[in-house]
Amino acid sequence: MIIAIDGPAAAGKGTLARRLAEAYGFALLDTGLLYRAVGMKVVAADGDLDDEEGAARAARALRPDELSNPALRSDAAAQAASKVAAIAPVRAALLDFQRTFAHQPPSPAKGAILDGRDIATTVCPDAEIKLFVTASAEIRAKRRYKELLDRGLSAIYARVLEDLEERDARDKARAVSPLVAAPDALVIDTSAMDADRVFATAVDFIKSRNVGERP
Ligand code: CDP
Repeated sequence: MIIAIDGPAAAGKGTLARRLAEAYGFALLDTGLLYRAVGMKVVAADGDLDDEEGAARAARALRPDELSNPALRSDAAAQAASKVAAIAPVRAALLDFQRTFAHQPPSPAKGAILDGRDIATTVCPDAEIKLFVTASAEIRAKRRYKELLDRGLSAIYARVLEDLEERDARDKARAVSPLVAAPDALVIDTSAMDADRVFATAVDFIKSRNVGERP
């Protein structure tokens, strides 16, 4: 069984994905990390983020051990990610890894959860469960701002909001696999919901589709 979770930046996809993975015993892949790692690889090599060939080479050379670098969680990595994510050969290079993880999750997982932007539309259009998690830009920026402060980093709210809106605009406007809800996805607007309610909403939906037990 595959659960696809898509949505804009800082909407709560990661939190929901982790809770569902734990509840159902599924393996989890945060696909944003793949794009972040490719972006940072290009930056580290003093490369140009608009250089399609260089970015595609970085994507093809990506190794799983490069996904655990803590620097990938920075906003600089997020911005670099959304630039290389618009390059078709980069997306193509990362497709096999994501599909293999979805269809043959590491043992003993009984299923896979992937979160990203195009999981339900491109990577796993066959996913049994498709969730599109969203929230207003202001709420998402507030959550990301708090997360940065909690991690001991300095941040300016207005800058966080601006970065997030710039990234969303790029993700929605790109020609290849743009950010959009699949027609058969459950849209969960988390603006006025806490993490428990988001989780309960997802579990009810999974149950209603008769593909999973309530954990
Ligand atoms: O954590 P947050 O939602 O802020 O970002 P992320 O999920 O780590 O994704 C970082 C960037 O990677 C996004 O802004 C997208 O441009 C890109 N991405 C993508 O294009 N497709 C995916 N499946 C996942 C991420």
